Amino acid sequence: MNHLSQYRNDPDAIRALFDEDRVHRDVYLNEELFDLECERLFVRSWVFVGHASQVPNTGDFITTQIARQPVIMIRQPDGTIRVLLNRCAHKGTMVISLSSGNAGKFLRCPYHAWTYRTDGKPLGVPLRIGYEGTRLHECEASAGLGSLACENYRGFVFARMSPEGISFRDYFGDMLGMLDNLADRSPAGEVRVAGGILRSVIPCNWKMYLENVVDAVHPISTHESAWQTARDAVKTWPKDTPCPMELEQLLPFGSGYEFYQQAGARVYANGHCILGTRASIHSGYGAPPGYEDAMRTAHGEKRAKEILAFAPQNSVLFPTLALKSSPQTLRVIRPLAANRTLVEIFALAPVDAPDELLQRTLTYNRLVFSPMSIVAHDDIHVFKTMQQALASSGNPWISLHREFQVNEGSQLPMDVSGNNEILMRNQFRAWVDLMATHD
Ligand code: FES
Ligand SMILES: [Fe+2]
Repeated sequence: MNHLSQYRNDPDAIRALFDEDRVHRDVYLNEELFDLECERLFVRSWVFVGHASQVPNTGDFITTQIARQPVIMIRQPDGTIRVLLNRCAHKGTMVISLSSGNAGKFLRCPYHAWTYRTDGKPLGVPLRIGYEGTRLHECEASAGLGSLACENYRGFVFARMSPEGISFRDYFGDMLGMLDNLADRSPAGEVRVAGGILRSVIPCNWKMYLENVVDAVHPISTHESAWQTARDAVKTWPKDTPCPMELEQLLPFGSGYEFYQQAGARVYANGHCILGTRASIHSGYGAPPGYEDAMRTAHGEKRAKEILAFAPQNSVLFPTLALKSSPQTLRVIRPLAANRTLVEIFALAPVDAPDELLQRTLTYNRLVFSPMSIVAHDDIHVFKTMQQALASSGNPWISLHREFQVNEGSQLPMDVSGNNEILMRNQFRAWVDLMATHD
């Protein structure tokens, strides 16, 4: 069997890559598996595309890619949002090359000027007379741009490439409560993308990044230089001068193993999870003046308390979205190749809330996630070295044993400690379910 067909026709070989409490290095390295992820995993799950606030007006669009396929998210004249394949029906040119903009009333391919309505339906073809008596109308080329299954949940737009498959609500289930928690941090129940999107291309497999989002055991060692420097700065900070926001944000990176053991986590079906159900490094952030009152007036005493008291460290909407509700941050994982991953960081501004919430988010993102961050480069260093060293001739298995229990996960959702590697094992169970089967 040659390398290129090692896994494609062998579901048992794919299942064998995840051995309950350990995972084989091929899941990060093997290019055939990345191809299969594009064909089987990303196309059948609900993938985050963008936020409705990025396309406020009719004809506004953003472009991105899902599973290496270029897509357009575009606002329709009736106010809804659609996700289209960015691939001309004629010869396959990308109909839009810009990353964002306004298409006007219709889309026009830059090559031979075929035109499409904003919902992708065909509009016009130059030299129509030349097609008379041909079989164009029987051909897929006359159907316009492909349109994906799409769901706009409180402004968060997701798409599923497969025309058939699990429904949006069945796929995410109770995890949608985390999107509610984020949107309801606004007294108006709405958040908007603000302040630009930070982008980094990281030389590692996308799953290394995703696992790390809920890896509570690494910050104290990996980010020691950041939190130790913050601790030293606080010691000498003048008593009568308020500590800057940056220190408030960096200090909790020194939280120890015991903190995360108590902080709690919850795993859900389909690979989703929440780290920090009882506490997180964000629990201590104070509320800006007037914010709590505005929240109580808008949502009522009980709901306002419920929203503000729940500030987990990270929530993963498998496979490509990680969010924080406080600060209001999205991390969007766009896998490019087995060893290359684009990560986009969005800051969200809660509508009708004090500007300080957005400032806190922007500061956090610059400090912790941006290419110039004093935290992210620690993670990127370890991802890069893992990607390199796993290819060397050593033990091919990666340990995920921490707090493993036989038959775990048969009852989901399940509450566990924040240090439990079930958060990653649960991702791999979902990975196997999608990868070892296909349509
Ligand atoms: S490729 Fe688009 S019009 Fe020809
Ligand atoms: Fe980290």
